[in-house]
Amino acid sequence: MALTTKHLLGIKDLTTEDIQLILSTATQFKEVLQRPVKKVPTLRDITIVNLFYENSTRTRISFELAEKRLSADVVNFTVSNSSAAKGETLLDTVNNILSMKVDMVVMRHSASGAPHYLAKHIDAAIINAGDGINEHPTQALLDAFSMKEKLGKLQGLKVAIIGDIMHSRVALSNIYLLKKMGAEVMVSGPPTLIPTYLKEAMGIQIEYNIDKALAWCDVANVLRIQLERQNQPLFSSLREYNLAYGITQNRLQKLTKEIVIMHPGPINRGVELDSDVADSPHSIILDQVENGVAVRMACLYLLTGRTQPTT
Ligand code: CP
Repeated sequence: MALTTKHLLGIKDLTTEDIQLILSTATQFKEVLQRPVKKVPTLRDITIVNLFYENSTRTRISFELAEKRLSADVVNFTVSNSSAAKGETLLDTVNNILSMKVDMVVMRHSASGAPHYLAKHIDAAIINAGDGINEHPTQALLDAFSMKEKLGKLQGLKVAIIGDIMHSRVALSNIYLLKKMGAEVMVSGPPTLIPTYLKEAMGIQIEYNIDKALAWCDVANVLRIQLERQNQPLFSSLREYNLAYGITQNRLQKLTKEIVIMHPGPINRGVELDSDVADSPHSIILDQVENGVAVRMACLYLLTGRTQPTT
């Protein structure tokens, strides 16, 4: 089986079958990662550049590990010590790198649409590792993998995405994926951080009362308050945000059932999520990070079109 797309720019472009294929291939790679020798020759002779124009811990390390576990040759690019700082354009930078016989580009950029622009101008396959406030497809795929691993299904699952929805590429990719896979999705948080087009154009439930959202869901995917993307204050203070919308043990103890807590990271502890919840048995946050390597191995492998994933 093969993906219907040459690039992985967003979940919006994937079919349900593409998503199922990535998740089932990731299951095979997760088995590889449990072996004493965690490396397979699948992408030997493939060269991949990780182009990070924006900060990252999890995604950058996870892609690099995934590439190395697949035996690819890896080149890392960070904008701060590159000639981009001297004014070189994105397209010039990428064309120069590709002229050195690079096969695939993994890119994070603060501008929404940057990987889509590149895809129109270069031949190499591109994986979007997060573009502005648009999409973060591999995060949504690893989130889905982790939910399915924990709860056994996506179909019919009730997922509340909570927090700064407005500035979150994780929210949009999760919404696209969960809808395609038959889950029910609700967004919750302050009215100033939830775009109403989600309800009007996409039929997503909006719940401004956090306790009602928690009582409704099986999974709460809690998002970081992205102060760096807010040009003006959208709530009164971080302390008041925590009181009104923070996920606390006190809130969880009022529920009549256990729910699963997720967060893509990095966490603002004591703002959107209290430490005793983030570190509790309800939380699968570190499972998400672990699963990210297998999911990214699956994406890299499937986009090269090679056969024999795990030998
Ligand atoms: N989840 C995520 O994208 O984290 P990083 O910004 O650290 O890559």
